[in-house]
Amino acid sequence: MFDPLDLYDGTDTQNEIETSTETYTFINDKAMTPNEVLSEDEEIDNDDAAPLFILDLPPVSYASPETILATLSLLSPDTQVNFKSSAGLTAEEICNSKHITNDLQEAIVDWYANITQNKKLDNISKICNMIPQLVNSSDTERSNLLNYYTSILKKYENPKTVSSISGTIVKEVSLRIAECCGRSAIPSMSRDFKFENMTSIVSLFEPSLTADNLGWKTWGASLILSEVLVENFTNIASFKKKENGEPLKVLELGAGTGLVGISWACKWKELNGTDKNDIEMYITDLPEIVDNLKKNTTANGIDSFVTADVLDWTKADDFVQKYSVEDQSFDIILVADPIYSPNHPEWVVNMISKFLRADGTCYLEIPIRPKYAVERQVLIDLLDKNNFSIGNERYDQGIDDWGSVKYLYREIRRK
Ligand SMILES: C[S@@+](CC[C@H](N)C(=O)[O-])C[C@H]1O[C@@H](n2cnc3c(N)ncnc32)[C@H](O)[C@@H]1O
Repeated sequence: MFDPLDLYDGTDTQNEIETSTETYTFINDKAMTPNEVLSEDEEIDNDDAAPLFILDLPPVSYASPETILATLSLLSPDTQVNFKSSAGLTAEEICNSKHITNDLQEAIVDWYANITQNKKLDNISKICNMIPQLVNSSDTERSNLLNYYTSILKKYENPKTVSSISGTIVKEVSLRIAECCGRSAIPSMSRDFKFENMTSIVSLFEPSLTADNLGWKTWGASLILSEVLVENFTNIASFKKKENGEPLKVLELGAGTGLVGISWACKWKELNGTDKNDIEMYITDLPEIVDNLKKNTTANGIDSFVTADVLDWTKADDFVQKYSVEDQSFDIILVADPIYSPNHPEWVVNMISKFLRADGTCYLEIPIRPKYAVERQVLIDLLDKNNFSIGNERYDQGIDDWGSVKYLYREIRRK
């Protein structure tokens, strides 16, 4: 686990102003007094179209604690929609979503409009529009951002810095430092997912990624599989109420945060309601993942007909006994990104063999990770050996936290 405070060198507490000025020196190649800093800012401000730099952020030595807290809040991550940051929000919406109170807004506007007279940022709209973009700047600017954060941590960790909001600032800046280190270092987050043809927005909570709990992150394969299934829901013959009066039985394996199963269930609910005579659905994973899965199922309003529970691919009997599940009883099996160890192909094929009905379909999406080419081939061989055929098969281009990823979509049926 990464500790954000590892970045903090607490030995030098006397050079506070010098350190902060040094940051400026590093960028401008000269040392400056506070007044020189301000007049330098004015020069930059004359060009309204000039891009924003970390240099434009309020320096910790001169700006008020409220200004610093407002800045840190603006630099917090946007709620992501479909793995992308949400754009086009008003200043009011941004302030509400980032919990920036009126007092904090006034402090940061005062800093830019009156104290430094920075025309690039002299009203709340410009501030809310431009400052959050600094998080996505170049690698050099990002390392300057890390310097900026550590200078704040250094000042507000120091007991000599007296402010009623020191604790809040230290907490916020520690989160910002962690966020610089990628998804695996982020304490926890929520993400929203929107689909064409569906009114509901799926909102998922992801706990901090600790140990091997890969199911606490939503993976790109689940987004692309959800898009395929939800957006084509009414065209897929098997996604309908059964004519024989029995409930349609749906099972998700290795659901993680639950995107595939939850989005599928939200779409079912919009079209068919929640009558348990029509649908029986289980979204499943390992014990340590299931608490969060249950939370997400409830939060998205589908828990009246969807059960989130443990189904370990190595000991399915517990699940079978608890829910009196018969062999080959599921019409639909959903699986996204289940193969990342040599054992997984065999375990996953065992589960499909055990649970898929004679006329059922398993919808599978896997990322094309170079490291797991062998496991993907073993999966194909085992499916074939167990008398399964691949119906539709297609490569998709999708997205995950680190960018574009290639995926393979497959529909699996018994021969
Ligand atoms: C890469 S994650 C994918 C999660 C989710 N399907 C997604 O795409 O966001 C793989 C998932 O498989 C689950 N898994 C791994 N081994 C398992 C096992 N033996 N039994 C059940 N689930 C397992 C993990 O807990 C994890 O949630």
